[in-house]
Amino acid sequence: MKRNYFGDVKFDEAYFTGKHPAGYKGGYNKKSLTKDFDCYTHFKEDAKFIKDLGIESYLEIGCACGFLMEELLKLGVKARGWDISKFIVEKASPEVRPFIEIKSIDKISSLPDKAFDLVHVSGVLGYVSEDKLDYYLSELKRIARKYVIVYVGTPAEDDMPEENSIRLVNRSDGWWNKKFAEYFKEKDLENCVWKVK
Ligand SMILES: C[S@@+](CC[C@H](N)C(=O)[O-])C[C@H]1O[C@@H](n2cnc3c(N)ncnc32)[C@H](O)[C@@H]1O
Repeated sequence: MKRNYFGDVKFDEAYFTGKHPAGYKGGYNKKSLTKDFDCYTHFKEDAKFIKDLGIESYLEIGCACGFLMEELLKLGVKARGWDISKFIVEKASPEVRPFIEIKSIDKISSLPDKAFDLVHVSGVLGYVSEDKLDYYLSELKRIARKYVIVYVGTPAEDDMPEENSIRLVNRSDGWWNKKFAEYFKEKDLENCVWKVK
């Protein structure tokens, strides 16, 4: 049976320090993220890429301690973040902490239409219940003015079995891209950027 690590408390210290087998082995820090993960972990360059899309306002759901937000704020982008984990949010630097709320994607309906130029959700949608995906995607479409960045990560059965104990949606990249295409128009698949239709 899958254990629910995705309630309010389970993105906890053990997960972010790699003590939990499904967590970040090298810890959740800039050095190991840049080394071990490809997606939006080269924070300075990624912030410039996002700004150059013409982005002035940005929301990141599942922003953790806001490494990317921090670089966007330096570039003058109005960046805001939500994350469900008190543990990791409290690790944010003083520059970025005021812009992060401890909040779940479940609260997305509280935001007005076209609230942000770009909404970024990386590494979150694989952990929500599959029957809520359409709701979240339609809400993302409603609150984003220009683009969304949506990245899920799809651990193969054989190379990341530990993640399968906590993942609620374990689908292929092709499946996710088809799902995203129901709501958004492909803009730059390599960088997971979709245009709001
Ligand atoms: C796999 S980590 C990805 C972190 C970051 N987005 C990245 O790509 O490096 C998942 C993050 O999403 C947060 N998270 C998980 N479920 C969430 C939810 N329902 N609402 C908001 N944040 C959530 C976790 O606390 C964690 O920081």
